[in-house]
Amino acid sequence: MKFNFLVTTLLISSVIIAGCSAASSESGEHEAMDHVNMTNMEGMDHSNMTDEEIEEMDMENGHASHTNLVALNNSTGENELAIPQLIEPKDGVVTINAQQGTTEIFKGVQSQTFGYNGSFLGPVIRVNEGETVIFRTKNELAEPTTFHWHGVDISGEGDGGPHQLLGPGAMEDVKFTVSQGASTLWFHPHPEGSTAEQVYKGLAGLIYVEDNNSKNLNLPKEYGVNDFPLVFQDREFTVEKQFDYQAVRNDDGTIGNTLLVNGTINPKLTIGKEKVRLRLLNGANARNYTFKLNTEDKFQQIASDGGFLNSPIEMSKITLAPGERAEIIVDFSKYDSESDIALLNEDDAILLPFIIDEQKTNPLEISTSLNDFAVTDEERNLSVTKKLELFGMGKMVYINGKQFDMNRLDFSQKQGETEIWEIYNKPDAMGGMIHPFHIHGTQFKVVLIDGNEPPVNLQGWKDTISIEAGQTVKLAVKFNNKGIYMFHCHILEHEENGMMGQVEVI
Ligand code: C2O
Ligand code: CU
Ligand code: CU
Repeated sequence: MKFNFLVTTLLISSVIIAGCSAASSESGEHEAMDHVNMTNMEGMDHSNMTDEEIEEMDMENGHASHTNLVALNNSTGENELAIPQLIEPKDGVVTINAQQGTTEIFKGVQSQTFGYNGSFLGPVIRVNEGETVIFRTKNELAEPTTFHWHGVDISGEGDGGPHQLLGPGAMEDVKFTVSQGASTLWFHPHPEGSTAEQVYKGLAGLIYVEDNNSKNLNLPKEYGVNDFPLVFQDREFTVEKQFDYQAVRNDDGTIGNTLLVNGTINPKLTIGKEKVRLRLLNGANARNYTFKLNTEDKFQQIASDGGFLNSPIEMSKITLAPGERAEIIVDFSKYDSESDIALLNEDDAILLPFIIDEQKTNPLEISTSLNDFAVTDEERNLSVTKKLELFGMGKMVYINGKQFDMNRLDFSQKQGETEIWEIYNKPDAMGGMIHPFHIHGTQFKVVLIDGNEPPVNLQGWKDTISIEAGQTVKLAVKFNNKGIYMFHCHILEHEENGMMGQVEVI
């Protein structure tokens, strides 16, 4: 342990120097700038401190604040990636049980975990646009939870925010009609005060929406064959290989040195010598991931949070903040079983090595026209009617100077009416940090980022947007249903520390 700590500390010191200068020179990039491991600053309001005071404090702590302090271990690739069970409605009903159990994450050791319909993580629920479904939810945990459908166009009552608490043993049918296009959405708990811990222990699953368009497009779409869900989460295990959330909890977001993909430690993925679709979810509490290939080859992004982009976008890397998703196509046809190919994180940590099965090939031409997403002139010309200012770190995190109060509605908006939300991430004396901003119950359009058109891979439906310190984004937001919805920072500990508000749709 001690040795590990020393190595980590040394690594960190060099990363910090690189990290901070990179952050200031490449402010246009989605750099990881998480203020972590600063628990000794808890409860301090540093907004009144001078720069010198803050710098001094930082020096005393022996570290700077602009980086993910805990590096990720490389995946050794010794375990084949777990593919979640795919479930579809039976007579219109999907049963989803939140439960606790034990899981063999490390060979020969049982870890205490939470899961949906199993001991760890959840299934992929596949539904079709236009169908009416009932999510039959049951809480088999010994504590209250909620079932939140992240990215789903659903009534406030069905949304599963903190108001829809289910006690141990309680059941609830959530009935709705799927009214959005093909997309990769997800679900997780949202009880006030224990969202972060319950997600950390394993409550998260995916929802695939399919539609006529997605069924007709030329895309890899065989689940678990050439179309894979990849849920990225980093965790810290105790020496006994257990989760001890309270011990590692960080007010600026809990991160860990151990990556789990779909709950698999040290994963590898065996794929064909063909084009493969990867549906990426950053399901971490706090860490940003920047995905790239070790070969430096490009891949194509085909979807953002809430649906297909208009056409595939060539990318050499993609950053996802907690809560965000992207679908990418990687072309493995030029590699063979000897190739060394892996998905890396920005800092070159190996996230997922690939093994190529040369027997499997499929000369698929990816469709070049995928969607007809557009920000209309009308939307562009709307004036700002909701202003939000994100500010702070640690326990002192605010939206418009306020912390979450279940009994306070911060905004109201009319059902079916588009409004422009302007969100400003106000820097503090230390620079500030990225806040991934999420709105429940809808998919929004990114109209402008600092006055400019968003990059083309953000020109698509979104429900979570990573906002850097100093940035202002304008979003066109429309709710198709009524009810009370949360909006919040998706660093789960920030959300729990109060960086959340409520909009009532009337
Ligand atoms: Cu992933 Cu309040 O949501
Ligand atoms: Cu959500
Ligand atoms: Cu935040």
